[in-house]
Amino acid sequence: MSSKLEVNKNDMHSIVKSFPQLLRHSSLDVRLREQLAEMRDDRPTGICFIGMGGSSIAGGYVATSLADTSRQPIAVVRDESLPEYIGQGYVSFVVSYSGNTQETLDAYEILAERGCHTVTMASGGLLSKKKADCFIRLPPGFPPRGALPAMFGALLQATQTILGVPTTDLNHMAEEINLAADSWGGNLSKPAALAEWMRGRIPVFMGSRHLYPVAYRAKCQMNENAKTEAFASPFPEATHNELEGFTEKRAGSFAIVLLKSRAEGATNAKRLDIVAEILSSAGHDCTIVTASAPTQMGEMLELTYHLDLTSVELADINGVDPLSVPKISALKKRLK
Ligand code: PA5
Repeated sequence: MSSKLEVNKNDMHSIVKSFPQLLRHSSLDVRLREQLAEMRDDRPTGICFIGMGGSSIAGGYVATSLADTSRQPIAVVRDESLPEYIGQGYVSFVVSYSGNTQETLDAYEILAERGCHTVTMASGGLLSKKKADCFIRLPPGFPPRGALPAMFGALLQATQTILGVPTTDLNHMAEEINLAADSWGGNLSKPAALAEWMRGRIPVFMGSRHLYPVAYRAKCQMNENAKTEAFASPFPEATHNELEGFTEKRAGSFAIVLLKSRAEGATNAKRLDIVAEILSSAGHDCTIVTASAPTQMGEMLELTYHLDLTSVELADINGVDPLSVPKISALKKRLK
Protein backbone atom coordinates (compact mmCIF):
# COMPACT_ATOMS: atom_id res chain seq x y z
CA MET A 1 0.00 0.00 0.00
CA SER A 2 1.42 3.31 -1.11
CA SER A 3 1.17 7.14 -0.96
CA LYS A 4 0.06 9.39 1.89
CA LEU A 5 -3.60 9.38 2.91
CA GLU A 6 -5.33 12.69 3.47
CA VAL A 7 -7.98 11.95 6.03
CA ASN A 8 -8.89 13.12 9.52
CA LYS A 9 -9.07 9.83 11.42
CA ASN A 10 -10.85 11.50 14.35
CA ASP A 11 -13.85 12.31 12.21
CA MET A 12 -16.07 9.57 10.77
CA HIS A 13 -17.40 11.93 8.08
CA SER A 14 -13.86 12.47 6.84
CA ILE A 15 -13.08 8.75 7.06
CA VAL A 16 -16.12 7.71 5.03
CA LYS A 17 -15.53 10.49 2.49
CA SER A 18 -12.05 9.07 1.91
CA PHE A 19 -13.65 5.87 0.51
CA PRO A 20 -12.40 6.34 -3.11
CA GLN A 21 -9.00 7.51 -1.88
CA LEU A 22 -8.60 4.48 0.42
CA LEU A 23 -9.58 2.15 -2.40
CA ARG A 24 -6.92 3.64 -4.69
CA HIS A 25 -4.37 3.43 -1.92
CA SER A 26 -4.91 -0.31 -1.42
CA SER A 27 -3.26 -1.53 -4.63
CA LEU A 28 -0.76 -4.30 -3.83
CA ASP A 29 2.95 -3.70 -4.32
CA VAL A 30 5.21 -5.91 -6.45
CA ARG A 31 6.69 -7.82 -3.50
CA LEU A 32 3.26 -8.88 -2.22
CA ARG A 33 2.14 -9.86 -5.71
CA GLU A 34 5.20 -12.10 -6.03
CA GLN A 35 4.55 -13.79 -2.69
CA LEU A 36 0.92 -14.41 -3.64
CA ALA A 37 1.90 -15.70 -7.08
CA GLU A 38 3.95 -18.41 -5.33
CA MET A 39 0.78 -19.62 -3.64
CA ARG A 40 -1.00 -19.67 -6.99
CA ASP A 41 1.75 -21.98 -8.28
CA ASP A 42 0.80 -24.46 -5.53
CA ARG A 43 -2.65 -24.70 -7.17
CA PRO A 44 -4.93 -23.99 -4.20
CA THR A 45 -8.09 -26.08 -3.97
CA GLY A 46 -10.10 -23.37 -2.22
CA ILE A 47 -10.02 -19.90 -0.71
CA CYS A 48 -11.47 -18.75 2.58
CA PHE A 49 -11.83 -15.43 4.34
CA ILE A 50 -11.89 -15.27 8.13
CA GLY A 51 -12.77 -12.14 10.11
CA MET A 52 -15.33 -10.60 12.42
CA GLY A 53 -17.49 -7.46 12.14
CA GLY A 54 -15.89 -4.69 10.09
CA SER A 55 -13.03 -7.03 9.19
CA SER A 56 -15.37 -9.62 7.68
CA ILE A 57 -17.09 -7.39 5.14
CA ALA A 58 -14.34 -7.16 2.52
CA GLY A 59 -14.02 -10.96 2.33
CA GLY A 60 -17.78 -11.22 1.76
CA TYR A 61 -17.56 -8.66 -1.05
CA VAL A 62 -14.63 -10.42 -2.74
CA ALA A 63 -16.30 -13.83 -2.44
CA THR A 64 -19.47 -12.49 -4.05
CA SER A 65 -17.59 -10.60 -6.77
CA LEU A 66 -15.63 -13.69 -7.84
CA ALA A 67 -18.31 -16.34 -7.24
CA ASP A 68 -19.54 -16.34 -10.85
CA THR A 69 -16.09 -16.96 -12.33
CA SER A 70 -13.99 -18.85 -9.78
CA ARG A 71 -13.64 -22.60 -10.21
CA GLN A 72 -12.38 -22.91 -6.66
CA PRO A 73 -14.85 -22.71 -3.77
CA ILE A 74 -14.66 -19.44 -1.80
CA ALA A 75 -15.86 -19.53 1.82
CA VAL A 76 -16.53 -16.69 4.24
CA VAL A 77 -16.30 -17.56 7.94
CA ARG A 78 -17.36 -15.24 10.73
CA ASP A 79 -16.59 -17.56 13.61
CA GLU A 80 -13.78 -18.96 15.71
CA SER A 81 -14.59 -22.52 14.65
CA LEU A 82 -14.02 -23.57 11.08
CA PRO A 83 -15.71 -26.08 8.80
CA GLU A 84 -13.69 -29.29 8.50
CA TYR A 85 -13.28 -28.92 4.71
CA ILE A 86 -11.04 -25.88 5.15
CA GLY A 87 -7.59 -27.40 5.38
CA GLN A 88 -4.50 -28.24 3.38
CA GLY A 89 -4.79 -26.91 -0.16
CA TYR A 90 -6.77 -23.87 0.96
CA VAL A 91 -5.43 -20.33 0.99
CA SER A 92 -6.89 -18.60 4.04
CA PHE A 93 -7.08 -14.85 4.40
CA VAL A 94 -7.20 -14.02 8.09
CA VAL A 95 -8.31 -10.43 8.63
CA SER A 96 -8.46 -8.38 11.80
CA TYR A 97 -8.01 -4.64 11.60
CA SER A 98 -6.76 -4.36 15.19
CA GLY A 99 -4.98 -7.70 14.92
CA ASN A 100 -6.28 -8.59 18.37
CA THR A 101 -9.73 -10.11 17.84
CA GLN A 102 -10.01 -13.35 19.80
CA GLU A 103 -12.16 -15.29 17.33
CA THR A 104 -9.85 -14.40 14.45
CA LEU A 105 -6.67 -15.25 16.35
CA ASP A 106 -8.13 -18.61 17.41
CA ALA A 107 -9.14 -19.37 13.83
CA TYR A 108 -5.60 -18.52 12.66
CA GLU A 109 -4.14 -21.13 15.01
CA ILE A 110 -6.51 -23.80 13.68
CA LEU A 111 -5.63 -22.93 10.08
CA ALA A 112 -1.90 -23.01 10.78
CA GLU A 113 -2.31 -26.40 12.46
CA ARG A 114 -4.26 -27.74 9.48
CA GLY A 115 -1.45 -26.71 7.12
CA CYS A 116 -3.31 -24.06 5.10
CA HIS A 117 -1.47 -21.30 3.33
CA THR A 118 -2.19 -18.22 5.42
CA VAL A 119 -2.34 -14.58 4.41
CA THR A 120 -2.83 -12.27 7.38
CA MET A 121 -4.11 -8.71 7.14
CA ALA A 122 -4.01 -6.24 10.05
CA SER A 123 -2.88 -2.76 11.01
CA GLY A 124 -0.83 -4.21 13.88
CA GLY A 125 -1.58 -6.27 17.00
CA LEU A 126 -0.92 -9.95 17.63
CA LEU A 127 -2.04 -11.10 14.19
CA SER A 128 0.68 -9.01 12.53
CA LYS A 129 3.30 -10.95 14.48
CA LYS A 130 2.19 -14.42 13.34
CA LYS A 131 4.40 -16.32 10.94
CA ALA A 132 1.98 -16.32 8.03
CA ASP A 133 3.04 -17.02 4.45
CA CYS A 134 2.21 -13.45 3.58
CA PHE A 135 1.24 -10.35 5.59
CA ILE A 136 -0.68 -7.35 4.27
CA ARG A 137 -0.35 -4.30 6.51
CA LEU A 138 -3.36 -1.98 6.68
CA PRO A 139 -3.01 1.78 7.22
CA PRO A 140 -3.22 2.44 11.00
CA GLY A 141 -5.51 4.69 13.04
CA PHE A 142 -8.91 3.94 11.47
CA PRO A 143 -11.96 2.45 13.17
CA PRO A 144 -11.96 -1.10 11.68
CA ARG A 145 -15.17 -0.62 9.67
CA GLY A 146 -13.78 2.65 8.26
CA ALA A 147 -10.92 0.77 6.60
CA LEU A 148 -13.24 -1.35 4.41
CA PRO A 149 -12.08 0.12 1.06
CA ALA A 150 -8.45 -0.60 1.97
CA MET A 151 -9.27 -4.16 3.01
CA PHE A 152 -11.45 -4.76 -0.04
CA GLY A 153 -8.98 -3.46 -2.64
CA ALA A 154 -6.08 -5.47 -1.23
CA LEU A 155 -8.11 -8.67 -0.68
CA LEU A 156 -9.58 -8.45 -4.17
CA GLN A 157 -6.23 -8.10 -5.91
CA ALA A 158 -4.65 -10.74 -3.66
CA THR A 159 -7.41 -13.26 -4.40
CA GLN A 160 -7.29 -12.53 -8.13
CA THR A 161 -3.53 -13.09 -8.07
CA ILE A 162 -3.98 -16.42 -6.34
CA LEU A 163 -6.67 -17.46 -8.79
CA GLY A 164 -4.46 -16.40 -11.71
CA VAL A 165 -6.93 -13.90 -13.18
CA PRO A 166 -6.26 -10.24 -14.10
CA THR A 167 -6.35 -7.88 -11.14
CA THR A 168 -8.94 -5.10 -11.00
CA ASP A 169 -7.73 -1.56 -11.66
CA LEU A 170 -8.60 0.14 -8.37
CA ASN A 171 -7.97 3.63 -9.75
CA HIS A 172 -10.62 2.96 -12.32
CA MET A 173 -13.06 1.65 -9.67
CA ALA A 174 -12.45 4.76 -7.55
CA GLU A 175 -13.17 6.91 -10.59
CA GLU A 176 -16.39 4.96 -11.22
CA ILE A 177 -17.56 5.63 -7.66
CA ASN A 178 -16.68 9.33 -7.79
CA LEU A 179 -18.59 9.74 -11.03
CA ALA A 180 -21.59 7.83 -9.66
CA ALA A 181 -21.62 9.96 -6.50
CA ASP A 182 -21.94 13.08 -8.65
CA SER A 183 -25.36 11.84 -9.77
CA TRP A 184 -26.82 11.26 -6.30
CA GLY A 185 -30.02 13.14 -5.76
CA GLY A 186 -31.70 11.58 -8.79
CA ASN A 187 -32.24 7.85 -8.65
CA LEU A 188 -30.55 7.66 -5.29
CA SER A 189 -31.45 10.46 -2.88
CA LYS A 190 -28.49 12.15 -1.18
CA PRO A 191 -27.21 10.40 1.99
CA ALA A 192 -28.47 13.20 4.26
CA ALA A 193 -31.97 12.92 2.75
CA LEU A 194 -32.02 9.13 3.13
CA ALA A 195 -30.89 9.44 6.76
CA GLU A 196 -33.62 12.00 7.40
CA TRP A 197 -36.15 9.57 5.93
CA MET A 198 -34.89 6.92 8.39
CA ARG A 199 -35.17 9.21 11.43
CA GLY A 200 -36.84 7.46 14.39
CA ARG A 201 -37.38 4.21 12.52
CA ILE A 202 -35.55 0.89 12.22
CA PRO A 203 -33.71 0.54 8.91
CA VAL A 204 -34.14 -2.78 7.10
CA PHE A 205 -32.05 -3.52 4.00
CA MET A 206 -32.80 -6.18 1.44
CA GLY A 207 -30.74 -7.18 -1.57
CA SER A 208 -30.14 -10.15 -3.79
CA ARG A 209 -26.91 -11.73 -5.07
CA HIS A 210 -24.08 -9.16 -5.04
CA LEU A 211 -26.29 -6.65 -3.22
CA TYR A 212 -26.97 -8.84 -0.18
CA PRO A 213 -23.45 -8.27 1.25
CA VAL A 214 -24.10 -4.56 0.71
CA ALA A 215 -27.37 -4.83 2.67
CA TYR A 216 -25.51 -6.63 5.46
CA ARG A 217 -22.76 -3.98 5.52
CA ALA A 218 -25.39 -1.21 5.68
CA LYS A 219 -27.08 -2.90 8.63
CA CYS A 220 -23.75 -3.16 10.48
CA GLN A 221 -22.93 0.50 9.77
CA MET A 222 -26.31 1.60 11.10
CA ASN A 223 -25.73 -0.52 14.24
CA GLU A 224 -22.20 0.67 14.95
CA ASN A 225 -22.15 4.24 13.61
CA ALA A 226 -25.74 5.38 14.16
CA LYS A 227 -26.39 3.16 17.23
CA THR A 228 -29.71 1.90 16.01
CA GLU A 229 -31.26 -1.51 15.59
CA ALA A 230 -31.08 -2.42 11.91
CA PHE A 231 -31.59 -5.57 9.90
CA ALA A 232 -30.54 -7.08 6.59
CA SER A 233 -32.37 -9.75 4.68
CA PRO A 234 -31.39 -11.76 1.63
CA PHE A 235 -33.68 -11.36 -1.34
CA PRO A 236 -35.66 -13.25 -2.67
CA GLU A 237 -35.48 -15.54 0.40
CA ALA A 238 -37.13 -12.83 2.53
CA THR A 239 -40.18 -12.97 0.29
CA HIS A 240 -40.84 -16.50 1.55
CA ASN A 241 -40.97 -15.59 5.24
CA GLU A 242 -40.13 -12.06 6.38
CA LEU A 243 -42.57 -10.38 4.01
CA GLU A 244 -45.40 -11.88 6.07
CA GLY A 245 -43.97 -10.40 9.27
CA PHE A 246 -44.42 -6.78 8.17
CA THR A 247 -47.94 -6.37 9.50
CA GLU A 248 -50.11 -3.25 9.62
CA LYS A 249 -49.68 -3.29 13.43
CA ARG A 250 -46.10 -1.98 13.17
CA ALA A 251 -46.63 0.31 10.20
CA GLY A 252 -44.33 3.32 10.49
CA SER A 253 -41.74 1.49 12.61
CA PHE A 254 -39.37 0.53 9.81
CA ALA A 255 -37.54 2.27 6.98
CA ILE A 256 -37.25 -0.49 4.40
CA VAL A 257 -34.60 -0.11 1.69
CA LEU A 258 -34.76 -2.48 -1.26
CA LEU A 259 -31.48 -2.53 -3.16
CA LYS A 260 -32.06 -3.08 -6.85
CA SER A 261 -29.34 -3.83 -9.37
CA ARG A 262 -29.48 -2.50 -12.91
CA ALA A 263 -28.54 -6.03 -13.95
CA GLU A 264 -31.44 -7.59 -12.02
CA GLY A 265 -33.09 -10.48 -13.84
CA ALA A 266 -36.60 -9.71 -15.13
CA THR A 267 -38.36 -11.91 -12.54
CA ASN A 268 -36.44 -10.51 -9.61
CA ALA A 269 -36.90 -6.93 -10.81
CA LYS A 270 -40.65 -7.54 -10.98
CA ARG A 271 -40.53 -9.25 -7.56
CA LEU A 272 -38.84 -6.22 -5.99
CA ASP A 273 -41.47 -3.86 -7.41
CA ILE A 274 -44.33 -6.05 -6.19
CA VAL A 275 -42.79 -6.38 -2.70
CA ALA A 276 -42.48 -2.58 -2.49
CA GLU A 277 -46.18 -2.32 -3.36
CA ILE A 278 -47.24 -4.98 -0.83
CA LEU A 279 -45.20 -3.35 1.96
CA SER A 280 -46.49 0.11 1.13
CA SER A 281 -50.08 -1.04 1.09
CA ALA A 282 -49.53 -2.52 4.58
CA GLY A 283 -48.54 1.02 5.64
CA HIS A 284 -44.76 0.50 5.64
CA ASP A 285 -42.26 3.05 4.42
CA CYS A 286 -40.30 1.47 1.67
CA THR A 287 -37.94 2.77 -0.97
CA ILE A 288 -36.17 1.14 -3.91
CA VAL A 289 -32.58 2.23 -4.31
CA THR A 290 -30.59 1.78 -7.53
CA ALA A 291 -26.95 2.62 -8.10
CA SER A 292 -25.78 4.36 -11.24
CA ALA A 293 -22.32 2.74 -11.53
CA PRO A 294 -22.10 0.68 -14.75
CA THR A 295 -20.58 -2.54 -13.33
CA GLN A 296 -21.72 -4.94 -10.61
CA MET A 297 -18.64 -4.21 -8.53
CA GLY A 298 -19.23 -0.52 -9.09
CA GLU A 299 -22.82 -0.92 -7.88
CA MET A 300 -21.60 -2.66 -4.72
CA LEU A 301 -19.04 0.01 -3.96
CA GLU A 302 -21.24 2.96 -4.88
CA LEU A 303 -24.10 1.75 -2.66
CA THR A 304 -21.68 0.98 0.16
CA TYR A 305 -20.16 4.46 -0.07
CA HIS A 306 -23.64 5.99 -0.10
CA LEU A 307 -25.01 3.93 2.79
CA ASP A 308 -21.83 4.42 4.85
CA LEU A 309 -22.35 8.18 4.47
CA THR A 310 -26.03 7.72 5.34
CA SER A 311 -25.05 5.93 8.57
CA VAL A 312 -22.86 8.87 9.62
CA GLU A 313 -25.66 11.33 8.82
CA LEU A 314 -28.02 9.19 10.89
CA ALA A 315 -25.49 9.23 13.75
CA ASP A 316 -25.70 13.05 13.68
CA ILE A 317 -29.51 12.91 13.70
CA ASN A 318 -29.40 10.45 16.62
CA GLY A 319 -26.87 12.62 18.47
CA VAL A 320 -24.35 9.78 18.87
CA ASP A 321 -20.62 9.38 18.24
CA PRO A 322 -20.09 7.16 15.19
CA LEU A 323 -16.46 6.46 16.11
CA SER A 324 -16.88 4.81 19.49
CA VAL A 325 -18.50 1.42 20.05
CA PRO A 326 -18.66 1.25 23.86
CA LYS A 327 -20.69 -1.97 24.17
CA ILE A 328 -18.48 -3.91 21.75
CA SER A 329 -15.37 -2.56 23.48
CA ALA A 330 -16.71 -3.47 26.92
CA LEU A 331 -17.43 -7.03 25.80
CA LYS A 332 -13.93 -7.42 24.31
CA LYS A 333 -12.39 -6.08 27.52
CA ARG A 334 -14.35 -8.48 29.71
CA LEU A 335 -13.40 -11.46 27.54
CA LYS A 336 -9.69 -10.64 27.62
O1 PA5 B 1 -15.89 -2.02 13.09
C1 PA5 B 1 -15.69 -2.41 14.23
O2 PA5 B 1 -15.24 -1.68 15.12
C2 PA5 B 1 -15.98 -3.85 14.58
O3 PA5 B 1 -16.99 -4.38 13.78
C3 PA5 B 1 -14.68 -4.68 14.46
O4 PA5 B 1 -14.32 -4.78 13.12
C4 PA5 B 1 -14.87 -6.08 15.07
O5 PA5 B 1 -15.17 -5.98 16.42
C5 PA5 B 1 -13.61 -6.93 14.90
O6 PA5 B 1 -12.45 -6.23 15.28
P1 PA5 B 1 -11.21 -6.20 14.30
O7 PA5 B 1 -11.69 -5.59 13.04
O8 PA5 B 1 -10.18 -5.35 14.97
O9 PA5 B 1 -10.78 -7.62 14.15
